[in-house]
Amino acid sequence: MSHYVVTGGAGFIGSAIVRALLAEGARRIVVIDNLLSGSESNLEEVRGAVDFQKSDIRNYDEIAPLVRGAAVIFHEAAIPSVPRSIDDPVPSHDVNINGTFNVLRAARDGNVGRVVYAASSSAYGDTEVLPKQEWMTPRPKSPYALQKLVGEYYMNVFSSVFGLETVALRYFNVYGPRQDPGSPYSGVLSLFMKAVLERTQPTIFGDGSQSRDFTYVEDVAALNLKAARAPNVSGKLYNGGNGGCITLNQAWALLQKLEGVEIPARYGPPRAGDVHDSQADTTLAVRDLGHAPRFSFEEGMRRTLEWYRTQ
Ligand code: UD1
Repeated sequence: MSHYVVTGGAGFIGSAIVRALLAEGARRIVVIDNLLSGSESNLEEVRGAVDFQKSDIRNYDEIAPLVRGAAVIFHEAAIPSVPRSIDDPVPSHDVNINGTFNVLRAARDGNVGRVVYAASSSAYGDTEVLPKQEWMTPRPKSPYALQKLVGEYYMNVFSSVFGLETVALRYFNVYGPRQDPGSPYSGVLSLFMKAVLERTQPTIFGDGSQSRDFTYVEDVAALNLKAARAPNVSGKLYNGGNGGCITLNQAWALLQKLEGVEIPARYGPPRAGDVHDSQADTTLAVRDLGHAPRFSFEEGMRRTLEWYRTQ
């Protein structure tokens, strides 16, 4: 019986994919994670149902036997964060580009059925119009954006040259339970959640008018499962957002409303490499993959806040 592999499966998004696979009745799931930013606690209640392998995608010899014969690899392992890739570009280059190449090489050598890749909306950079559509010329503004874009191109080339089935999903600012707020590089909504629960001021870089298509993690996990099964999509790229456009000021206002508090944000200088606006056109993902995001921003924020409250 062939198995599923989730690289970065102990991370915030990877562990949500693991849960979605288990909910669908998957029997064998191998999680590959070096626990650099992931944590076994993210897999707590499902730990007994998965084969956890502490292993690094930078090491081909380690991962090749683990992926051999897999039905699908969900490739989530990465060093995320735009500012981290600017402060410390070598590790993010190595994991995000060389690690991705290793995963593809191991997939091809091991006759894997399909690779579904976690690409990033940051690849678009600042576009003249919104929402962003897949045909638009990429304009990466940071090492991270470029690294994730190289991964997409590699997916496409492994499909066309080696006949490996690949699909790339450009994620749009994923948030939800288990996103770690413990680092300055953490996703902004996890930092906002921590601030509102601790009654402290968040810092907003710039004037807070920048907007994001914040996408709830369970919607992204569901999309991954659809991308794993959709016919005739090899080598293609899809937006994995939900079509929304929320400014940081609006997000902070909503959290204050949900908590019933008034805490003015602190404003700092804009961040290097930052994209101003980001919003997905979901037409292609809906048409080809059956993408159907279920969570409105407010509903996702309520659920996420509830989770942080219990931590
Ligand atoms: C980018 C990608 C996203 C990717 C993520 C990986 C874009 C549009 N999106 O997210 O697809 O998954 O990298 O890390 O490029 N901010 C504050 N205060 C804070 C922290 C952040 O104001 O304390 C601001 C940032 O300046 C930015 C926004 O919040 O404008 C979102 O930042 P962040 O959550 O780090 O994600 P992106 O860089 O947008």
